[in-house]
Amino acid sequence: PRSIWISRHGESMYNLSGQIGGDANLSARGRKYAEELPTLVKRSAGDSPLTVWTSTLKRTAQTAQHLPYEKLAWKALDELDSGVCDGLTYAEIEEKYPRDFKARDEDKYNYRYLGGESYRDVVIRLEPIIMELERSENILIVTHQAVLRCIYAYFMGSTQEKSPWMEVPLHCLIRLTPRAYKTEEERLFADV
Ligand code: F6P
Repeated sequence: PRSIWISRHGESMYNLSGQIGGDANLSARGRKYAEELPTLVKRSAGDSPLTVWTSTLKRTAQTAQHLPYEKLAWKALDELDSGVCDGLTYAEIEEKYPRDFKARDEDKYNYRYLGGESYRDVVIRLEPIIMELERSENILIVTHQAVLRCIYAYFMGSTQEKSPWMEVPLHCLIRLTPRAYKTEEERLFADV
């Protein structure tokens, strides 16, 4: 049966400082993940040829750079747009936009950042990606936390409203294999 592989980008400089959004470079540890990723993929996919989909942000291209496959960058895979909060830490958001911080806590799926997006918005913009995925073979997606949570929830048959709480850690390659009744999953963690 056909599988889909998903991975977040390696740790970025913003992940280190706790800032959200942005277009930061990978940290030293993130670059180490990028170097190990080809081995991790080979362990899971063997010699099957893959196509790699990334977002248009630097950290996903940098994570995919050592993978010896054809690559395609999609704008629709860019991270959830955090609007006016882009580049802030959660503590700064709480301080500058206390009501928004609370509103997001109360309804994380529907909350839309000022000038940005909600998880619901991301689910909608992912529709063409999901359609393309359903008719493709052997795709490896390297993208961002919120986006991967939505894709993961879709394949695991979870309601989209639960997307914000899906566990998609850094430095972990997830293989999803859709079966008749449920999607099988395998997680491979990099040693970085
Ligand atoms: O911190 C990394 C990150 O990808 C941010 O860019 C993004 O806003 C956030 O995670 C999404 O996670 P959450 O919805 O839990 O804030």
